[in-house]
Amino acid sequence: MTVRAFGPGRVNLVGEHTDYNGGLCLPFAIEQGVTVEGRRRADDTVLADALDLGERDEFTLGDVTPAAGWRAFVRGTVAELQRAGHGLTGCRLAISADLPRGAGLSSSAALETALALALLALAGEPDPDRRVLAGICSRVENDWVGAQTGLLDQMAALFGAAGHAIALDMRTLAADPVGLALGGWHLAVQDSGVAHAHAESGYNERRRECREACRLLGVASLRDADPGRVASLPEPLRRRARHVLDENQRVRDTLAALDRRDLPAVGRLLDACHVSLRDLFEVSVPEVEHTRDSMKAAGAAGARIMGGGFGGAVLGLFAPGAVPPPGALAVAPADGARLL
Ligand code: GLA
Repeated sequence: MTVRAFGPGRVNLVGEHTDYNGGLCLPFAIEQGVTVEGRRRADDTVLADALDLGERDEFTLGDVTPAAGWRAFVRGTVAELQRAGHGLTGCRLAISADLPRGAGLSSSAALETALALALLALAGEPDPDRRVLAGICSRVENDWVGAQTGLLDQMAALFGAAGHAIALDMRTLAADPVGLALGGWHLAVQDSGVAHAHAESGYNERRRECREACRLLGVASLRDADPGRVASLPEPLRRRARHVLDENQRVRDTLAALDRRDLPAVGRLLDACHVSLRDLFEVSVPEVEHTRDSMKAAGAAGARIMGGGFGGAVLGLFAPGAVPPPGALAVAPADGARLL
């Protein structure tokens, strides 16, 4: 038995650093991603080939030990699916990708979701519960890869739909497709070229600050924070919480602007998001500012740092006729993770 599964990368239109704060995000899945071809084996061995790296991994279903790099994703997905009660079969997996790694398009979630769908299909479960699967993939990332990320990337990869952004409410895990009719406008991302050494520690520090703000405010998540009381928090916690509250509102405002086909307003919201991530949440770096400046100079109606920050990608929105800078990748909403 052979299966092929695809997991897409994602772009987040707006709603940054809100996912682990029970907030709102508006991502979409993109065409580029990771494909996993799986063949069942008669024994309980898992053989995995990362085709573009020319590397291989091998382990047995009954003895999954930690590993580093791409192997952590394979082993983590196998282990977490088994832990969740799925009876997996031995298999041979071939992994290939047309998504740049480490460029802020969440190649991680693309890989996790493609692996999970392939492994489950081989085990006779072609249509798993996608909310549950998002949680499993997130545990792979947190506990096996060691990145304390939220659920945004996995939800975007699993709930993506062609032509649609996905309105995510991270408190309820509601995922509602929203038509992304750009009417000739287009979106592009450009890698800043830096993945800062402190990306992970910086991200984790922001998460700690948000938790500390919640503790001082006596709320379970910043979604429930009262704006008046946020103003009385000590710095930098006030700035961090302010960003999260404003960012949730920017997601609502973007949904309203898309509804009335007001793309210039969407551009202004992207710019406002960037300013907030730079000045209040403080996750920008000079290379990202430089990349954003070149997008604005090329005529972007709005441009912003995207993802966790401290490097990574910049997203730009361009009016018809405007040309993104050389090297930018055009992105459009595509279907989510699926069996091919
Ligand atoms: C990274 C994480 C996501 C999310 C964003 C910031 O991409 O993987 O969970 O927290 O940063 O919005």
